[in-house]
Order: sequence, then structure tokens, then C-alpha cells
Amino acid sequence: MKTIIEPFRIKSVEPLRMTSVSEREALLKEANYNLFSLKSDDVLIDLLTDSGTSAMSTKQWAGIQMGDESYAGSPSFYRFEQALRELAPFKHIIPTHQGRAAEKILFSIIGQENDKLIIPNNTHFDTTRANIEASGSQALDLVKQEGLDPQVDLPFKGDMDLKRLRDLLETQAELVPIVMLTITNNSGGGQPVSMANIRETKALCDEFNKPLFLDACRFAENAYFIKQREAGYQDKTPKEIVQEIFSYADGMTMSAKKDALVNMGGWLALNDDNLAMKARNVLILTEGFPTYGGLSGRDLEAMAVGLEEIIEEDYLNYRISSTAYFGNALDKLGIPIVKPVGGHAVYIDARAMLPHIPPSEYPGQALAIEMYRLGGIRGCEIGTVMFGQQPDGSEKLAAMDLVRMAIPRRVYTQSHIDYCIECLEEVNANKNNLRGVNISWQPPMLRHFTCHFEPK
Ligand code: F0G
Repeated sequence: MKTIIEPFRIKSVEPLRMTSVSEREALLKEANYNLFSLKSDDVLIDLLTDSGTSAMSTKQWAGIQMGDESYAGSPSFYRFEQALRELAPFKHIIPTHQGRAAEKILFSIIGQENDKLIIPNNTHFDTTRANIEASGSQALDLVKQEGLDPQVDLPFKGDMDLKRLRDLLETQAELVPIVMLTITNNSGGGQPVSMANIRETKALCDEFNKPLFLDACRFAENAYFIKQREAGYQDKTPKEIVQEIFSYADGMTMSAKKDALVNMGGWLALNDDNLAMKARNVLILTEGFPTYGGLSGRDLEAMAVGLEEIIEEDYLNYRISSTAYFGNALDKLGIPIVKPVGGHAVYIDARAMLPHIPPSEYPGQALAIEMYRLGGIRGCEIGTVMFGQQPDGSEKLAAMDLVRMAIPRRVYTQSHIDYCIECLEEVNANKNNLRGVNISWQPPMLRHFTCHFEPK
């Protein structure tokens, strides 16, 4: 059979509230055309993020019942620690309430003494960048050139540019406390990093005696791409590939809201005793005792089970194929997308799709608004609205104007996705009638969450 079915059936359902185009037009106006201001009950298909939006399994819900809420030394912590060590045998495993809390702790302990430190990565995610900058350091993106071109179809567009990393280490090694790799590269379209690149990045780190940290939110999706696309990995299990990936790392930050299949959670894991001691001290100040770190015991149980389920081959095959199914259908309709399709999301190149809307009139936002108006679908502008606002109040056009449609794990079925494809087909047919938008009000920073828009 060539149809890849969802490898689960549905035992508990959440009704979707149907709305009409005219209702949504009124709701949009009320929300000042900012999709973050919509009530999620008014959204039919919510593709705003794949973070914290997974459906948990019966086994995870059973784990919730097993959660032990002891302040110190809960068996739920040890179950979580063991499940993670099975994949990533780090010496110190420090739970946090989500990924950015792990980042905050890590950069507050490595960024203090020298305020000109540089942290290289393929591409930093926004919270990682913000936490680095808040610690006084510089966040440097060194993804290979092809990772910046939405149209080139190559297997590992998340790879680090090793030449530029070497140049950095040869000239400024003393300013680089750690090297990072984000797997998969979310800000670059959910593109994977090859095992060869992870291995070579580690070798370069060893040459300069620098620890390699993975921002590993989507490690299992990355592993499955390696299995599909990299020579020598076809016969390995996702688990073996994940284990090899982590064998090259000295530490990791993690948002368990992605590839640990839970609604809240994260961790920092590392091997260095001294850094771990400092991290636990900050953890106690900001998150909680080291065996719960801002989470309930039941959350730790759900993460332990999620870590077993995320590396199941049937799950990963469904996950990667279903995202590709969506993206490839849009590609066939002539809608420009970031290629190849990433693991967790389809990114539409709104600037290419709507060339009649100048980037200063936010084509990504115009497209996101229209998808909601016509179909009740909520995506997210990733472009000049999100990145254009400068600290001095001026505006700089972003490199690309994209709309990301992130797919929650195990939540929507193929008919939901077929509906999205149909909606986008209609948006595309009428695209010449779409108009840009103005920003009529904005806060001084992080404007995309709250600013107000006005249609032109
Ligand atoms: N790193 C990456 C690569 C991420 O994608 C995210 C979150 C984080 C770190 C931070 O984790 O949200 O648990 O604090 N990405 C979400 C998204 C928000 O929609 O892409 P967090």
C-alpha cells in the first residue's frame, strides 16, 4: 500500500467550532488583524505552532496518573532521567519548565564575565538569540549559504558552514565559550543537519577545545531525515541515529513541547560538573529544586513516555510524510514554498507569491490574514513584521517574508490538511486581489505579538 496512515486512532475528541467567512471578518477586525489576538476557539485549524500543541497518547495520560509530586527525589524525575539517558547519556539532566528557561540558565552562567562573547549556531531561534543578547553576548548565525535560499532543494539545508566556523575559531576562539547546532533548523525552514555535519562540527570543536551544545527541540525529526537522506543510515533505527547524534554533544537545551510530545516542559543537559553546579544554583532561584525544575511530577512522567514514542519509526514516517504531503501539494499548485519541506512546518514564501504587495506592506501578514478570513486557518507571519522592528524604532526589511504553517503532532488528520490545501488553492486563485497592510499601533519591541494592523 502506498497510503501512509496516521499510526493511531482517536479515543478522545475535541469539537471544532465552525465559523463563517462573515463571522471571521468581524473577528479579524476585533483582533486588529493580529492573529495572536484571536481566541483559539474562533480558529478552525490552528497552525500557529507545533510547540506544546501535541496530542498525548493513552500511555502518556496513564503516566500523568503515576506522577509523584514529591518536592525532592521524586521517582517521576528518575523515570524521566532514565528515558533521556537511553537516548542522550548526559551526566547532568536538569529539568526546566520549557526550552527558553534552559537557555536563560545556560547563557546566564556562561555569558557573565566577558560581555563580548560570541555564540555561533547554524541559526539561533528567537528566544535563544534573545537570551544570548540579554546576557551581553552576540548570537552569530553560520548556516551554509544554501540554507538561506528558499528555492534550492538540497537534503541538509540546516548544515553549519564549517569554513566560517573555522575562521571564527581561528581568529576569535577566546571569545567563543560554546558552539551550538539547532536540529532541525527552525528559523531556516525546519531543515535538518546531516550526521556528517554534526560529526565535523564536533571535530572542529575538539580541535579548539570548545563544547558543542545542541538545541535539540526536533531531534527525532532530524534523525528521520538522516535515515531517509544520508548514505549509511537507511538500515539504522531512529533510536540508533538519535544516540549517535547525541554522542557528539557535550550538552543540550530542549523544549519538550516539540519532540518529547508534551504540552509543557524542557531541560538543560550537560557533562561539565562545574557548569552543572552553577546551572542548578540558577535553577533553584528561578525554576525549582533540581528534581522537578518548574514542572509537576506528572509532567516528568509524560516526558519520559513521550521520549519513547517520538522515536517510533511508524510515527516518524507518518510525521515527515504528512508534512511533505501538505507542502508538496502547495508546490504542485504553483504556490512558492521553502524547499524541501521541513519536518514540522510548511513555509510559504509570501514575498514571491504576492509580488504586487511591497515588503513594506507585509505580504506575509496579508496572506496570513486571508487564510484565516477564507478558511479559519491560523498560520504565523515570519518576516518583516516579526524581525523588521529595530531597537531605534526604525524598520529594516527582513530577508524573507514567510508564512509558517506548523503542524501540531498527532492532532490533525489528512482531511484537515486537504481542507487547508483547498483553502490555499482558492487564496492563490484570487491572490491579485489581496492588498497589503499598515501597522497602526506597535509596542517598542516584539511587536508581532500585539501590534495592530489596518488593511490598505
Ligand atoms: N529552540 C527552538 C529551535 C525552538 O523552535 C523553540 C520554540 C525554542 C528553542 C524555545 O522553546 O518555546 O519551549 O521556550 N519554538 C516555538 C515555535 C515557540 O513556535 O517555533 P520554548
